[in-house]
Amino acid sequence: MIQSEPQIKMIELKNVSIVYPGKKEPFVALHPTTLSFAKGQFTVLLGRSGAGKSSLLRSINFLNKPSGGGVSVDSIGEITSGSRLRELRRCCGMIFQQHQLLPRSTVLRNVLNGRLSYHSFFRSICPLPVKERLLALECLDRVGLFEKALNRADQLSGGEQQRVGIARALAQQSCIMLADEPVASLDPATSVTLLRLLKRICSEDGITAVVSLHQVDLARSFADRIIGLALGRVIFDGTPDQLDDTALGRIYGESHVADMRSTAPNEAGYESKWPVFADPSPTFSQT
Ligand SMILES: Nc1ncnc2c1ncn2[C@@H]1O[C@H](COP(=O)(O)OP(=O)(O)OP(=O)(O)O)[C@@H](O)[C@H]1O
Ligand SMILES: [Mg+2]
Repeated sequence: MIQSEPQIKMIELKNVSIVYPGKKEPFVALHPTTLSFAKGQFTVLLGRSGAGKSSLLRSINFLNKPSGGGVSVDSIGEITSGSRLRELRRCCGMIFQQHQLLPRSTVLRNVLNGRLSYHSFFRSICPLPVKERLLALECLDRVGLFEKALNRADQLSGGEQQRVGIARALAQQSCIMLADEPVASLDPATSVTLLRLLKRICSEDGITAVVSLHQVDLARSFADRIIGLALGRVIFDGTPDQLDDTALGRIYGESHVADMRSTAPNEAGYESKWPVFADPSPTFSQT
């Protein structure tokens, strides 16, 4: 378990639970969970399909409204009113597995959509000021897509579209980044590039990131902290070094861990479906 208490608790979940209405009876996807996320920390959520990763992630910005408990965010306080929820949504960027871009709009327009919460409805249907467009271009430059600003979003590759998603969240000037399986539809090399970029940007801007992944090696390479979920409960909370066989067995099941080790082991002694990338260094140059 992580020993040192974070200095600034950016996000605090107190007894947050998510219960979905079921056909016969309600289904508890997340049992009451108390967690805090330090400012600037890059946390990866691991767990089998259905473990409750998305439910936990989406409870942070109330995309899944907690059925119980409370969420507090530094500088906003506990989310107890509509106005605080709007503030939370403004400071919370979200990256989805399927990019969630407007396919027929330009890349620039998609990034500008990250600015909409700063403007009234009537302002936002008019062209946004030059200052806003310059900010969006700067965000595109940071993700290496400046030249594609005027391309249609659906003309980009999956990895590029995901980078537009990051640029959109950046344009939002968010202090929290939530990413639900951001690399699920990408090939292994592009996944690494994307996570490097995300990690670098979060680290440069002091953004608190919570990212769900299915790839243990990527979690080990990029996370400051790993939270493992099973059956709607947090069953591991520690550093990548602390994620040993026992922890993996509890998260994925003993037989799965045995399967993982049955081929050539990597440095850490585990079988790897993916190459291990120890150095999350920047990929895109910033000029
Ligand atoms: N809207 C919903 N209504 C009812 N049950 C739901 C709903 N959304 C999720 N669930 C259930 O809650 C549990 C947790 O789902 P969740 O999406 O949080 O899992 P996950 O860990 O993100 O899984 P995956 O890795 O497949 O994305 C699952 O059993 C799922 O079937
Ligand atoms: Mg999910």
